[in-house]
Amino acid sequence: MNTILSFAKLKKEKEPISMITCYDYSFARIINQTEIDAILVGDSLGMVIAGESNTLSVTLDQIIYHTTIVRRGAPAKFIVADLPYLTYHLSISDTINNAGRIIKESGAQAIKLEGGQYFAKTVKSLVEASVPVMGHLGLTPQSIHKLGGYNVQGKQEEQRKIIIEDAKILEEAGVFALVLEMVPEDLAKEISSELSIPTIGIGAGRFCDGQVLVLNDLLGLDERFNPKFLKKYANFSNDAKKALNQYSQEVRERKFPKKINSF
Ligand code: KIV
Repeated sequence: MNTILSFAKLKKEKEPISMITCYDYSFARIINQTEIDAILVGDSLGMVIAGESNTLSVTLDQIIYHTTIVRRGAPAKFIVADLPYLTYHLSISDTINNAGRIIKESGAQAIKLEGGQYFAKTVKSLVEASVPVMGHLGLTPQSIHKLGGYNVQGKQEEQRKIIIEDAKILEEAGVFALVLEMVPEDLAKEISSELSIPTIGIGAGRFCDGQVLVLNDLLGLDERFNPKFLKKYANFSNDAKKALNQYSQEVRERKFPKKINSF
């Protein structure tokens, strides 16, 4: 099983890290049998599982529930769980309590939170409370209303400087890895070479120390979602529709069930 030490080792040895989101037991069982390095129970579940237009409504209890069932299916994997919006913004003691609940109740080894230098003290306090923290910069979906859209971040010089500064401050505060979402490739490259912790990119180009994708996107479960950064490794949407239509047709034609399916 990987640990936060494996992340440091992989960075040192220049071995790319593969991370994938997961939200349920069935897919967790499959991931458990693969070479994937780590699972993220992301608050993207609000969008891909619940069909919301953003991640803001996801609750701590939902993250704990989904992380618990992912852990049940993937006992051999390193699991990071997202701290949802407003679970680390109010006070340090509230934050430690919320992160501690995830670790104690769900079996995750680490939490992820979004944001830069403003959260340095929070990160420090979590690490002091023995909660490993993964950072998240660039497009931070919990700030969707502040950002005004799901756009590439760090294109302007001023913004770029802030992201680089935030990355260094988060490393100093104690994050063991850093997600970079939707930033220009050269910015991700610069940050990755300046930090000693690994960067994990999504829409951040080729030079991060690792990559993360949303499982449902990688498997092609939503034919409407085709952003430039995504590679679909399968077409589950088509395959599922084909299988369901075939089942429906066989029921109508009384081809299923057969004698072999009967008692
Ligand atoms: O919630 C999530 O799935 C994430 C990834 C996209 C990095 O934060």
